[in-house]
Amino acid sequence: MTALSVRGRPAPAAPDPGFGIYVHWPFCLAKCPYCDFNSHVRERIDQPRWAAALLRELDHFANETEGRTVGSVFFGGGTPSLMAPATAAAVIDRVARRWSLPADAEITLEANPTSVEAGAFAEFAAAGVNRVSLGIQALDDAALSFLGREHSAEEGLAALALARRHFRRHSFDLIYARPEQTAQGWQAELARALEHADGHLSLYQLTIEPGTAFHARHTRGSLGLPDEATQAALYETTQAMLERAGLPAYEISNHARPGEESRHNLLYWRYGDYVGVGPGAHGRLTASAADGGRQKLATRTHRAPEVWLERVERQGHAEQPREAIVPAERLAEMLMMGLRLAEGVALSRIAAETGRRLDAWIPAPTLAPLLEAGLLVRDDRRLGATAAGRRRLDAVLASLLA
Ligand SMILES: C[S@@+](CC[C@H](N)C(=O)[O-])C[C@H]1O[C@@H](n2cnc3c(N)ncnc32)[C@H](O)[C@@H]1O
Ligand code: SF4
Repeated sequence: MTALSVRGRPAPAAPDPGFGIYVHWPFCLAKCPYCDFNSHVRERIDQPRWAAALLRELDHFANETEGRTVGSVFFGGGTPSLMAPATAAAVIDRVARRWSLPADAEITLEANPTSVEAGAFAEFAAAGVNRVSLGIQALDDAALSFLGREHSAEEGLAALALARRHFRRHSFDLIYARPEQTAQGWQAELARALEHADGHLSLYQLTIEPGTAFHARHTRGSLGLPDEATQAALYETTQAMLERAGLPAYEISNHARPGEESRHNLLYWRYGDYVGVGPGAHGRLTASAADGGRQKLATRTHRAPEVWLERVERQGHAEQPREAIVPAERLAEMLMMGLRLAEGVALSRIAAETGRRLDAWIPAPTLAPLLEAGLLVRDDRRLGATAAGRRRLDAVLASLLA
């Protein structure tokens, strides 16, 4: 299998990336010490008020994208499983009214595996959610406590069993490369995870994000991470075990059985259009330009939950000023996203999005050393990063976009 095949099948020439909707729910029960997502802890949340605001912001974006077919809806967070199921139902209903929402659209909910949230799975399923992504994070209670999680390994697996009962598709997240984690320990944990996995697993290496509690501890020297060689060994172990289990990586941290990839995330990585509502949500929209051509717009809403809510109630949306993405930035975004994927980036999509062929953007003397070093591969339809290239993607992109 080459880097440009999808499970042994040739990668499609230029799959239509489709169109999707992202809904951000910015609240959590507690703030995890590693997390820099736009997530906040609040004592009380006025659920009906939040539901009404999400619907208003959906309407705002629907006015300019009406008629498009929605392939996926993603409730992300924060912890959207803390949303009242009636809010999710109202959002899905509004999406179906304002756009075209086929019966087979993927509708994902990110969920934390505490018993309260798992108890609401049946209601979320009745609301139309058909895929759950569970933040199990570790199958070891000491590691869960280190990660500041509110659930035990047993609770995580119990939530997974409930998810299997209520949703056709589900995935779970684990975080590895934790302090003092050995390749042997991770192998055992991963083997156990595979006994419980169905079609999809997200396996993230712990990263120390600025502004988090872990960052402060790391700076003080009281949080040591595995060294480079151990991190590389953990990554290689992960790739090999998942490949053997029939869930190869289709993206740096995401593994799936063929056909079970997250359609919503594929849409981002393939540089499709999506609407983003809720605090701090981003979107990408293709629109008509003043000269009659097409332009790609970056949308972004206000990050602070209370400011977002107040602005939506006052003006129908909490958008920050939009930015038109110029062709050179579009190329950079396409490569940053697309080279994360095993299938790579379709050359025809680069030409369609940027108005120029790849060779007109990136001269042969820049590309050739990366191809020769085995970091990139190219055929007449695609440019892709090899497994080695995906591991060093930041350096590869820095060379390509210099
Ligand atoms: C939006 S977050 C979490 C969704 C949900 N609230 C939860 O915690 O289960 C999505 C995933 O990103 C991963 N993640 C967040 N911060 C991370 C970090 N610093 N390093 C590695 N993975 C991280 C976690 O696995 C998490 O489940
Ligand atoms: S990891 Fe999940 S639960 Fe923890 S703070 Fe981040 S979004 Fe909230």
